[in-house]
Amino acid sequence: MAKTDLPAGTTTIFEVMSRLSAQLGAINLGQGFPDMTEPPELIAAAQRALAERSNQYPPMRGLPELRSAIAGYYARQQGLVVAAEDVVVTSGATEALAASILALVRPGDEVILIQPLYDAYLPLVERAGGIPRLVSLTPPDWTLPLGQLEAAITARTRLIILNTPNNPVGTVLPREVLEAVGELCQRHDLFLLCDEVWEGMILDGTPHVSPLAIPALQDRAVKVGSAGKIFSMTGWKVGWAVATPRIASAIAQAHQFITFTTATPLQWAAAEGLMLPDAWHARHRARYAAGKARLVAGLTAAGFHILPASGTWFVTVDLAASDLPADDAALAERLIREAGVASIPVSAFYASEPETGYLRLCFAKQPETLDRAIERLTAFRA
Ligand SMILES: Cc1ncc(COP(=O)(O)O)c(C=O)c1O
Repeated sequence: MAKTDLPAGTTTIFEVMSRLSAQLGAINLGQGFPDMTEPPELIAAAQRALAERSNQYPPMRGLPELRSAIAGYYARQQGLVVAAEDVVVTSGATEALAASILALVRPGDEVILIQPLYDAYLPLVERAGGIPRLVSLTPPDWTLPLGQLEAAITARTRLIILNTPNNPVGTVLPREVLEAVGELCQRHDLFLLCDEVWEGMILDGTPHVSPLAIPALQDRAVKVGSAGKIFSMTGWKVGWAVATPRIASAIAQAHQFITFTTATPLQWAAAEGLMLPDAWHARHRARYAAGKARLVAGLTAAGFHILPASGTWFVTVDLAASDLPADDAALAERLIREAGVASIPVSAFYASEPETGYLRLCFAKQPETLDRAIERLTAFRA
């Protein structure tokens, strides 16, 4: 191997599917991004910030106004008591995850990851020198097998990474499960990193519970959030990590040499957005709930079996229950080429022993887009 050889690497499934979708002129229900108009309140706030506020470096940990707005939003929406000082603003949740993993994982530490998993976790853990240990949710209701989680803990385990609401399957972790995880973290002296980017997109009224609301986890958990997801502006890449000051400082240390800061005008706009009244957030969610109901009704009528889910922009098709062969990657390939609809196979969210019987579709689209996709998928089944 030459010194200048580079690792082959892989390209994320979302990028692959979006590229293929564009090439083939398919309807893209694969990668999660809305095709509806952005919230005008947020656009106006960003325009005002560009014209009237600073466009220079903000403080490394984020604008004080945004950090206060994040703490206020969590107090109102989730009853959480966090201080502005506990917040580190980052360039999207992805950077919050990277900075948290670099802060908490030392070479040789074991990190427990739960499958299906958002694709950034594993490479970030490996880049930090950590050793991933995988535990899988149990389909079709995607419950967290606490016995298997406990069995995966060793003397070298340092961190567990959770994701609630879950991408791809849309389920939320109930309080009693988080309490049980808290007890494990306390007993084995572990950190918990909880990716909560979909917290603002719970569409069935189930309350979102953060590990920071669990007493045993308050001094060991990191909560990761994303303005891109709360406001459906995925390109904004404004995110944050929230943790007790000792952990927040370690995350800030890592963050300062990754991106150092995040676009100042968008921080101002996110702060304004987070201060919008709860009724605004409820109306925003209601548009997505309507899209979900439309896609679920259309697909159900066409003979697809859709699993129940509380949140995110995604629904999961259960292939066996839909009388389809349990090969999600092959079906995704056929759907994009034969039906002209892009989807994501849930097996892509596994690093080992994948479930192959489930397909993820994104409903964060305008009614006309969803109707055209339903028409094509109905014709495919006929
Ligand atoms: C579970 C999860 N975590 C993190 C992210 C990344 O969020 P951001 O765009 O704020 O970096 C996503 C985006 O889809 C996600 O689904």
